[in-house]
Amino acid sequence: MILDTLPQQSPDALLALIKMYAADERADKIDLGVGVYRTDDGATPVFSAIKAAEAQLVEEQDSKSYLGPEGDTGFVNALMPYIFGKNPSMAGRIEGMQTPGGTGAVRLAIAVAKKAGANRVHLGTPSWPNHAQILSDIPIDAVFFDHSTADGTADIDKVLTAINSAAKGDAVLLHGCCHNPTGIDYSNEQWDAIADAFSRSEALPILDLAYQGLGSGLEEDAYGMRRVLGAVPEALIAYSCDKNFGLYRDRVGALYVLAEKPEQLGPIMSNLNALARASWSMPPDHGAAAVRLVLRDEKLTQSWLDELASMRARIADVRAQMAAAGQIGNLDLTALARQHGLFSVLNLSKEQIDRLRADHAVYMAGSGRINVAGLHSGNIANFVNALKAVAG
Ligand code: LMR
Repeated sequence: MILDTLPQQSPDALLALIKMYAADERADKIDLGVGVYRTDDGATPVFSAIKAAEAQLVEEQDSKSYLGPEGDTGFVNALMPYIFGKNPSMAGRIEGMQTPGGTGAVRLAIAVAKKAGANRVHLGTPSWPNHAQILSDIPIDAVFFDHSTADGTADIDKVLTAINSAAKGDAVLLHGCCHNPTGIDYSNEQWDAIADAFSRSEALPILDLAYQGLGSGLEEDAYGMRRVLGAVPEALIAYSCDKNFGLYRDRVGALYVLAEKPEQLGPIMSNLNALARASWSMPPDHGAAAVRLVLRDEKLTQSWLDELASMRARIADVRAQMAAAGQIGNLDLTALARQHGLFSVLNLSKEQIDRLRADHAVYMAGSGRINVAGLHSGNIANFVNALKAVAG
């Protein structure tokens, strides 16, 4: 017997929270757990542009035969102007492949970095818990630095020290925008300094861009990543369409590589193909094909951009409403207005988080992370009252 030696693992805390929330029968329960966008009615609808593209796909698709480990290259290429800009200075040095969600892209990025000789990854904490899980599962050594300061700003000194101290064989993994879990992003000036530090460092930048368009805008959210790419010979960019196209369960992502010279792309991509083949063989097609159809049609593209803009506006509005609640005990809710994207971490103890769930049916991650988009006109007052009850 071999399998009976496996110890019981605790379930992924965030995914367990989804089940706990579903099992709660209280009508006024509030889900601030997993990072999905919600409308003011609390729904997570399929984008209209995706619905239209899916209908077209049903009509037009005449085969579901294999595509290959690189997935839908039309999808990968159609996204590039949105990610890298219309005329990027590094044009010709970037190529990508489709991955199963942003998770697949991060995993493939770390795996190829390790295969190429990387032996450490610097990561600001707190981070998306799956980052550390992937590093430990690959495995590769993780070196942690503080992402933010006690007063709730990005800790630029710590990230610069990490980049400056990184040696050959080190990678530095950064969130491109909408930091998960804190919502605390580097300012453009700080990104300039980060790009400058990378230009003098031997570290490999790995940029995780999972929320483009949900912070300040599609272009604005790409600023830091583009600045870094303009300053370095090589980098890896993990991308997700799961949030900005609302395709969560369809698992739509991509990994792009910036190489020093165009002729290096072939060997690098061949390694990515081999790693993907040995991991998932080929990525799921449907969601990526739908994105490709959206991006090849001007009307559908505009519809996608409009829907994304309205999501962004709603998130900003919820942040402003929360900030208006000001200070509750030790909680400074005004910080929410200075942060970006779906997430914020509230300074609550484990006991307060447990009480919020038990007494007020408020579900949030054990780290105090809330999904801001889980708040809407029907529950925001209840949430603020619940915070006053446990932390006021
Ligand atoms: C989240 O952080 O809530 C999302 O990225 C979903 C996930 O896979 O963890």
